[in-house]
Amino acid sequence: MRRKVTKAIFPVAGLGTRFLPATKAIPKEIMTLVDRPLIQYAIDEARAAGIREFIFVTSRGKSALEDYFDFAPELENSLREKGKTELLEALKATNMESGAIAYIRQHQALGLGHAVWCARRLIANEPFAVILPDDVIAADTPCLQQMVEAYEETGGSMVAAMEVPQEKTSSYGVLDVKDDMGALVSVKGMVEKPDADQAPSNLAVIGRYILAPKVLQNLSNIKRGAGGEIQLTDAIAQEIENGRDVFGYRFRGQRFDCGSKAGFLQATVAFGLSRPDLKDEFSEFLDGMSMLKQAAQ
Ligand code: UTP
Repeated sequence: MRRKVTKAIFPVAGLGTRFLPATKAIPKEIMTLVDRPLIQYAIDEARAAGIREFIFVTSRGKSALEDYFDFAPELENSLREKGKTELLEALKATNMESGAIAYIRQHQALGLGHAVWCARRLIANEPFAVILPDDVIAADTPCLQQMVEAYEETGGSMVAAMEVPQEKTSSYGVLDVKDDMGALVSVKGMVEKPDADQAPSNLAVIGRYILAPKVLQNLSNIKRGAGGEIQLTDAIAQEIENGRDVFGYRFRGQRFDCGSKAGFLQATVAFGLSRPDLKDEFSEFLDGMSMLKQAAQ
């Protein structure tokens, strides 16, 4: 029997410089799509995939994240007294079972690989998931759940993958494909942020991973890679060099890069339009905006 994936690491220690000045005081992961912070979307996706232990790798200035997952008895009592049951229900999603959530500090932003490595003692010898909350994925079946189902068949390590335009490959980890089986591809190499003309394919790694515990050992010995950072991609690529399986998984769904301003705005529109309580008013507004734009041209 393959070991179930019940732990997930959420690396949230980055500096979020693309959203300065906002991120001077607010963690990027607390920024809201409609009325829920990015981190809530990530937690909901993890829960749907069967994750029971949530490990946050944080840094200075991220205390709002810890507060977000705390119980708020005064707020709850006040809502209860006023009979605001819907809002009470919305708050429930932010409550974490005692002991289910852990915070580890990354003292220096040395890269995603380093952030994941900081959580090594909480993972021990079992497969684990990694979720980057700034990649938000709208999907009928949540992306990590799709991956867990595929992983139950394959084992090894698995990364979420998506086709991107060739000229954009230099912003991603890119897969060197051995065998393309449709949704699933087996991988013979991975390279982080290659020059576009050197990229082995246009299949890019997106922020969802299921990793074998050996990846943490690899991270202990990995040198700084692209951008002078300790790269998770390099530690996964080492699995292939060591003869272990790595798969890419083409998920079904739409991914929004909420680490970038354009991606965040696109996600706001898409999630706003998907909300039954907002979509009529919002789409009327958007129609009006595009008419104004056309008139001005
Ligand atoms: P990004 O590459 O988006 O970096 O990190 P960033 O610092 O968050 O944002 P910018 O580029 O300065 O605007 C991808 C993910 O890896 C985490 C980030 O928090 C984010 O979830 N990360 C990155 C860490 O936890 N530690 C690091 O040293 C680097």
